[in-house]
Amino acid sequence: MQEEKGIIQSNEKIAKDTYRMKIAAGMAKDMKPGQFVNIKIDGYMLRRPISISSIEADGFVIVYKVVGDGTLALAKKHAHHTIDVFGPLGSSYPIHENRNEVLLIGGGVGVPPLYELAKQYRVLRKEVHVVLGFNDKDSIFYEQEFKALGCHVVVATMDGSYGVKGTVMDAIQAHAITCDFTYSCGPRPMLKAIEAAYQKGYMSFESRMACGIGACMACVAKDKKEADLYHRICKEGPVFPIGKVEF
Ligand code: FES
Repeated sequence: MQEEKGIIQSNEKIAKDTYRMKIAAGMAKDMKPGQFVNIKIDGYMLRRPISISSIEADGFVIVYKVVGDGTLALAKKHAHHTIDVFGPLGSSYPIHENRNEVLLIGGGVGVPPLYELAKQYRVLRKEVHVVLGFNDKDSIFYEQEFKALGCHVVVATMDGSYGVKGTVMDAIQAHAITCDFTYSCGPRPMLKAIEAAYQKGYMSFESRMACGIGACMACVAKDKKEADLYHRICKEGPVFPIGKVEF
């Protein structure tokens, strides 16, 4: 990991309160799907952890939601501005080359890290099923981008304004998707439902972070089997095998 001044190449709104930023940075060559970067926002002491959505030859892409003044400041950045990034950080989604098909399940801001994973599985010519969950039609993003990779994409919205009405689990059932090797990222209730239904695969956890580099223990999660064993979401995670941590 390293600190670097990246150059913003683009920063655009892609859905309700949701922005995509492309950053030119040399650290991209060390990145793996599922990892994140810590971004410094002017005027704020704590860096923001944001997952890596796409790894490119000359940089990387992040997708972030505007949830407060810090991310609003990020949304106001323009192309050619510099941005202080630290990374890549955390664990990554392992690629299983022996699998012929995988199921990627993302909810809201949990969708972005699955995009790079889908890219890498499609390079290997594997079947990739993608189930995306959002609150409503205006919040949907990346449906077309996953389709352009050749993935089978299903969308669910909680209010039923687009796709299957309900959760990602409702969408999996409605479309009778039988693939049982899953990669997921999203809100905890969604991850709990996935953990109850699947035994194989990996989950990425969102957590409140402070240092983001394993030093402060602000992000620990308890091991599911071993008493007194804790994992730092920012260091040993954010990606864990299904059933590894208590949440
Ligand atoms: Fe400090 Fe994870 S945020 S240890």
